[in-house]
Amino acid sequence: MCGIVGILGHGPVADRLLDGLKRLEYRGYDSSGMCTVHDGQFDRRRAPGKLANLARRLAEDPLPGDGGIAHTRWATHGAPTEDNAHPHIVGDVVLVHNGIIENFKPLRDELIAEGRQFLSQTDTEVVAHLVDRELSRGFKPKEAVANVLPRLHGAFALGVMFKSEPDLLIGARLGAPLTVGYGDGENFIGSDALALAPLTQRIAYLEEGDWAVVTRAHVQVYDKNNEAVERPIVNSGASGQLMDKGNHRHFMQKEIYEQPVVVAQTLRSYLRPLEEQVALPDMEFDLAGVERVAIVACGTAYYVGMIGKYWIEQLARIPVEIDFASEFRYRDPVFTPNMLGVVISQSGETADTLAALRHMKESGLTTGGIINVPTSSMAREVDLLLPTHAGPEIGVASTKAFTCQLAVMAALAVNLARAKGKLTAEEEREIVHHLREVPEAMSHALGHDAEIEAIAPKIAAARDVLYLGRGPEYPMALEGALKLKEISYIHAEGYASGEMKHGPIALIDDSVPLIVIAPSGPLFDKTVSNMQEAQARGAQVVLISDAEGIAQAGENTIATIEMPKVHPLIAPLVYAVPVQLLAYHVAVFKGTDVDQPRNLAKSVTVE
Ligand code: M6R
Repeated sequence: MCGIVGILGHGPVADRLLDGLKRLEYRGYDSSGMCTVHDGQFDRRRAPGKLANLARRLAEDPLPGDGGIAHTRWATHGAPTEDNAHPHIVGDVVLVHNGIIENFKPLRDELIAEGRQFLSQTDTEVVAHLVDRELSRGFKPKEAVANVLPRLHGAFALGVMFKSEPDLLIGARLGAPLTVGYGDGENFIGSDALALAPLTQRIAYLEEGDWAVVTRAHVQVYDKNNEAVERPIVNSGASGQLMDKGNHRHFMQKEIYEQPVVVAQTLRSYLRPLEEQVALPDMEFDLAGVERVAIVACGTAYYVGMIGKYWIEQLARIPVEIDFASEFRYRDPVFTPNMLGVVISQSGETADTLAALRHMKESGLTTGGIINVPTSSMAREVDLLLPTHAGPEIGVASTKAFTCQLAVMAALAVNLARAKGKLTAEEEREIVHHLREVPEAMSHALGHDAEIEAIAPKIAAARDVLYLGRGPEYPMALEGALKLKEISYIHAEGYASGEMKHGPIALIDDSVPLIVIAPSGPLFDKTVSNMQEAQARGAQVVLISDAEGIAQAGENTIATIEMPKVHPLIAPLVYAVPVQLLAYHVAVFKGTDVDQPRNLAKSVTVE
């Protein structure tokens, strides 16, 4: 799960490779490296840790050469050390890799038995050896790669260069994305269109099993049967600008604050204010025929799916199944006629979700996708694209993508309900009215930032934190716990509030903060009863509710966070804000790396 960029240019390429890596750092930041072919030699710089370390090394010891490959790594095999950083050099071959070579062990054993020596613990180095072995058997570089590709099992995108052929760059993909960029007398490969955006907008997306032979003057793509094929060159439309934090300390903070604007932006493309209706993009698919919905996603996007299940079942009366994408295929799901498959993903590249999407398509389902990156693999592969308009999300912890996904999920639920004849025009008008209140309610929630910051030290001292919610606030509790875990490294769990007494209540004592998400409304009293059961056992409660809820149950808490009074349908969008801010301030208080927390990557492109 890494980022690849390769350039055959005129003039030095190191700066442009580094810029490409900056755009790919969301794929991993355990180590990075770069290699050019210069005067018939490889010249390489590598550094463990963040890309800034490689940039420093390059500044001290610049890398000449007008052709090269570069890589940012999320470690799968081998620790994030310099030896394990890509590119890997074996003889005449230098290679970068994204993905996992699942059969690397027998291949490595085979190569070791032939006397080959390995300098890293990576699966990648095996591929470099295999290509080098083909060269030593007399094959030309192109044939050598063609011979090796069928031996690799798993998922990979590769970039390969050769000392003896400085005007040759070979890219290959299977299960991991790779694009070819077309320039003017220079050509490129990259993990995505964003990486290549400042270099070119003319992009071809390689298909499964494709490999591309790239020179400065020409690109030839071959399919998995080694037949020469044409892949359409499209305008990527990806922005060449690098994002900045503006006046904010972290991208996560900026992205939390962007929510009223980006959610309004997203809603604008789904609401028809004149007709007071909720619409979806034009599609040749009749939602009235949908009899079941299967939602698949990972992490934060999965919690959007959980909330979607409440909404779709309640509004449209259609049964919804929801799965972690990583579990979906392996439980051999039962597909029924007229089932709609829905994937949710910020990046559109998450390997588990992408594989689940393909499984649904192969099984004959029509698929919809709530996706943020319009150039992503999922955005290109779903039948019905339901875009979110959150803009680039840089912080590893998903915030604005989450609320924009919720906005689109609400639009889908309403459209299904109308198509199924379960919603009157009046009811739909009322929903439109509530959805239009969301941006203002979110701004109101952001107004409580300073109070939330003041609560953070009380949470930061804890070893464990529990979150409780009921109904759609249960997934919010899960999301709150995930946010806190990933950026503050505090152990946190979310529970359906009624489940507390079936086990987790044993965890409660006065060292365990309990964050209760409970807007006043139909589920409030029940949630508060569960909260009080925990308080009776010493729980230190932070209650997130509206004025009415706080007046009723705010006593004996260590803090309350007041939200505006909102309709239950839009509560998850609004209550996301304090949950995100709390995690953010706890992490800042603890001094963790908020935007790039340890061990994580923004986009998880391995299974
Ligand atoms: O790009 P995706 O939405 O498919 O990513 C899914 C998860 O990896 C992601 O939501 C992850 O859980 C976030 N880091 C949570 O903040």
